[in-house]
Amino acid sequence: MEFAKLVDGNQLPMLGLGVWQVPDGRACVDAVRTALELGYRHIDTAQAYGNEASVGKALRDSGVPRDEVFVTTKFYAGRKDPVAEAEQSLRKLGVDQVDLYLIHWPQGGPAWAWPGMERARERGLARSIGVSNFGADDLEQVIAAGSVTPAVNQINFSAVEYRRGLLDACLRHDIVLEAYSPLGTGRHLGNARVAEIAERAGRTPAQVLLRWCLQHGVPVIPKSTHRERIEENAQIFDFTLSGEDMAALDALDKTHGTDRALESTWW
Ligand code: A2P
Repeated sequence: MEFAKLVDGNQLPMLGLGVWQVPDGRACVDAVRTALELGYRHIDTAQAYGNEASVGKALRDSGVPRDEVFVTTKFYAGRKDPVAEAEQSLRKLGVDQVDLYLIHWPQGGPAWAWPGMERARERGLARSIGVSNFGADDLEQVIAAGSVTPAVNQINFSAVEYRRGLLDACLRHDIVLEAYSPLGTGRHLGNARVAEIAERAGRTPAQVLLRWCLQHGVPVIPKSTHRERIEENAQIFDFTLSGEDMAALDALDKTHGTDRALESTWW
C-alpha cells in the first residue's frame, strides 16, 4: 500500500473504500468486510451516512487488527459540538479513536467548528483532523482561525472535475487533497476518452480514473458494494499512465481549473 504523508506526521493510505450511500446494515457490513479481505486498509464513513455502526461491525468481524486500518469519519456540520459528535461516532464504530476526523462541509462558515476539531484531536478522539468540501477561500479562513492546519481536504475530484486551482492551494498549504467520487459517482466510466485510454492500457475505465488521481498525488476512496468492482478498484498500483495519457485526461476538466470545491451547496 502506498501512503500520502500528512503535515502532522501521520500517513493516509492512497486507496480506501468509500461508503457514502451504502445503507446501514448488511450491505455496508458486507462491502467493508469484502474490502478488508481484499487488502483495503482504509475505510471512509461519516456521521451523515448513518452507517458507522455497520463499519464498526465489519471492522470487528474482519479480525484485521485495529491499528492496521485507517478509519475516517466526518463531523455533521449541522450540529454544534465536534467533540460530542466524535464521542458518539467512536461509540458507534466501537473504536477508541478515529484516524481522521473531517468537518464534512463548511456550513455556517468555514472556521467556527475548527477549535472543536482541535479539541477532539487533543483529547485523542482523532489522530488527524481536516476538512471536506472546502474551497481555497474556506481553507484560508480556517488556517487563519486555527492553531493547526487541516491535514486533509476531501473533495469531489476526478479527471472531469480536476479543480487544479484548489489542488494548487492545498499543495501550497501542505494539505493533502483526497478525492471523493473519483469515478464521478459512476458517470465518468462511460467517457469515450477514458475508455480509449483504458483499452490501450489493457485496464478498465475505473482503474484509469483512479490511477490518474494517484499520479497527481491524490488519495482515492471509490465506493462500490460489488466484490469484483472493489477488487478491480484496488488494482491500480501496478501500472503507469504515460505523460500523454495524463494530459489527455487532464483536458477532460469541466471546472476550468477552479479553486472551488463545489458548483453548488446542499446546505
Ligand atoms: P456499485 O456500488 O453498485 O458497485 P464514486 O466512487 O465516484 O462515487 O462512484 C461510485 C459508483 O460507481 C457506484 O455507483 C458504484 O456502483 C460504481 N462503481 C464503482 N466501481 C466501479 C467499477 N469498477 N466499475 C463499474 N462501476 C463501478
